[in-house]
Amino acid sequence: MHDGKVLVYGATGAQGSPVVEQLLDAGRRVRAVTRDAERAQHWAARGAEVAVADLGQPETLKAANEGIDMVVLQLPLQYDFALHEAYGRNAIDAARAAGVELVVFNTSAHVIPDADVHIYQVRQEVVDYLHDSGVPSIVLRPTFYMEILLGPWIRPGIVDNGVMAFPLPADFPMSWVSASEMGAYSVAALDRPDLAGRTFDIGGPEALTGSGMAAQFSDLLRSSVSYMPIPPDAYEQALAPMFGPTVAFEVASQVRYIIGTGDGSIDMKETAAEFSVEPVTLQQWLRGHEWRTGSTGP
Ligand SMILES: NC(=O)c1ccc[n+]([C@@H]2O[C@H](COP(=O)([O-])OP(=O)(O)OC[C@H]3O[C@@H](n4cnc5c(N)ncnc54)[C@H](OP(=O)(O)O)[C@@H]3O)[C@@H](O)[C@H]2O)c1
Repeated sequence: MHDGKVLVYGATGAQGSPVVEQLLDAGRRVRAVTRDAERAQHWAARGAEVAVADLGQPETLKAANEGIDMVVLQLPLQYDFALHEAYGRNAIDAARAAGVELVVFNTSAHVIPDADVHIYQVRQEVVDYLHDSGVPSIVLRPTFYMEILLGPWIRPGIVDNGVMAFPLPADFPMSWVSASEMGAYSVAALDRPDLAGRTFDIGGPEALTGSGMAAQFSDLLRSSVSYMPIPPDAYEQALAPMFGPTVAFEVASQVRYIIGTGDGSIDMKETAAEFSVEPVTLQQWLRGHEWRTGSTGP
């Protein structure tokens, strides 16, 4: 195991938290990036260094990267695409300037190069910039996170109304992955500099369909949960009042594209063996969360 110091972006967020947690559990040296040190107090209490830095402010990233050996990079949700790309470039420039040995970049989505989807294109721009930078890197492209199911627009429907509404057809296979399993891949990749230059698609161990997931919820809750596919157009219309027409269009575009591929599943056998990561099934993940009616969630 490499004993270098690891800088983790998004360390207070859904994607970065499991990475920090697993690194600290393994006794690794961690520097957690946040814009507000208060938000990373729990990591400081566990022995992590905290770097107050902003992806939009390169000088803060320069300081955060000083003395760093490896970086786990994930970018926040940002539909200002120029800004999203700038965040990625800034982080990569700072890693290069600091002589970082390896960057593990979690693209946060199953980016499909050459797809006519803006959010994929901008994430691919960051991947290309990383490759051109000369900094050794491993790129991980996750499918859908199981944590989506905890969102305020899905979870209440399941626990209170017995309906899992989601914008994929009922029989569409998707290798949903938990954020903790994805974090395990990021952590494992840090010990695989021999894989620099490679890109891996990351999914969970099962090709899950909406109907199959609803059946698992029915078993778990001991009451009927049905699956309701939301057509992408209706999904876009529902999102628009909450997030505005641009974000609604971009989110729906991803869904339309994914549906168009006909299959969102990934055969993970080789990649799981390569990284020695323990798979997390939906059933295991569901049991780690609270699903009682009326409960407020995690
Ligand atoms: N594949 C999927 O199924 C799926 C589902 C949902 C989301 N996503 C993707 O996952 C990403 C969001 O996950 P997340 O864990 O980042 O979300 P999150 O839980 O909202 O956390 C956001 C993180 O980004 C940090 N951050 C935000 N703006 C920053 C800035 N300007 N400079 C430095 N750090 C900044 C925050 O740090 P502080 O607030 O502490 O500064 C926080 O740690 C997005 O890219 C989204 O597209 C993927």
